[in-house]
Amino acid sequence: MDWRVPLADVALGKEEEGAVLEVLRSGWLTMGAVTQAFEQELAAFVGARHAFAVNNGTAALHLACLAVGLGEGDEAIVPSLTFVATANAVRYTGAEVVFADVESEDWLCVSPRAIEEKITGRTKAIVVMHYGGFACDMPEILRVAKKHDLAVIEDAAHAIGGSLQGKSLGTWGDAGCYSFFGNKNMTTAEGGMLVTNDDRIAEKVRVLRSHGMTTLTWDRHKGHASTYDVVDLGYNYRMDEIRSAIGREQLKKLPAGNARRTELVLRYRQAFQEKAPALGLPFAEQRGISSQHIFPILLPEGVQREVFREALKAYGIQTSFHYPPVHHFLIYRKEDEELRMTESAARRQVTLPLFPAMTDEQQDLVIEAVIKYLSPAKK
Ligand SMILES: Cc1ncc(COP(=O)(O)O)c(C=O)c1O
Repeated sequence: MDWRVPLADVALGKEEEGAVLEVLRSGWLTMGAVTQAFEQELAAFVGARHAFAVNNGTAALHLACLAVGLGEGDEAIVPSLTFVATANAVRYTGAEVVFADVESEDWLCVSPRAIEEKITGRTKAIVVMHYGGFACDMPEILRVAKKHDLAVIEDAAHAIGGSLQGKSLGTWGDAGCYSFFGNKNMTTAEGGMLVTNDDRIAEKVRVLRSHGMTTLTWDRHKGHASTYDVVDLGYNYRMDEIRSAIGREQLKKLPAGNARRTELVLRYRQAFQEKAPALGLPFAEQRGISSQHIFPILLPEGVQREVFREALKAYGIQTSFHYPPVHHFLIYRKEDEELRMTESAARRQVTLPLFPAMTDEQQDLVIEAVIKYLSPAKK
């Protein structure tokens, strides 16, 4: 469909084209010098000691789960209001997923109190997700984790460029995982990065990312090694040079992109506060700096989400919702699961278009359509 206002849009230009061409002409296509440079630049950007580029964000999460030792017989506590990959990564290790509720309808991140209530003798890790790029309550989550001796993994797929108390989201826990999927604040088409300040986790990830091998093809090409051993059951989760080249350029553009997102979000909020007061606008509280990955709204009770979305579609406006709760999916369904806040927010949540290249005119069209739909005359 040809949207007048798409939900998201990627901004790729001459810089990415040039960087990709350079790789194609270099004669070395897989994980090598460009990937190493991308890792170093991203590590410096977020303030982490180690960064590992991988083929997608889910692979980063899987490696993080393995590196903190999750496996058969363990439990990990995760939010349900997230993309399914957060939970799947835990399941891949053989560990069991235990869902915890979000803080409130005003802050859609997993609640430290709800996490603590779900801890059992088998709990080994907490996987948080910075919803929309907004910070989870990391000081409190780390306090709970320390008290119960649990690992903390941050699903920071939405959160690149976000921070809390001046510390980047993704660097608070034992490991942080970014996604560079095509709709993220920075993209490599498919791709991800795991960051950590823990040398032991770093060593594990280094080995598991490439088949459990002790040296890489790149090391051997450079003459730094001539053979290898296989010391663990690893995977092929490597990033290639083409994607890393795109990533380096995207990282340079990220601060400006996030700044424009913030500007657009302020415009949305102001317009809706004035003209659509019944609309729920989560994340009003000042808590760190958000990467503003998405703009979520909560429809007033009684407004049917699909009818609302259809009405916007008629204007050529694309919307989405984040997310169908993971505990509703067949493979995660449990009869007695009760996540009151997650259920209620997920039922009413809609995501409006947000991307750096969005024009004020495009945004005005969205604002007008939402206000018109929710105006009293409509009900
Ligand atoms: C919250 C969240 N977690 C994990 C992922 C998985 O990332 P990827 O698609 O790069 O595997 C995504 C993105 O798609 C996501 O939005």
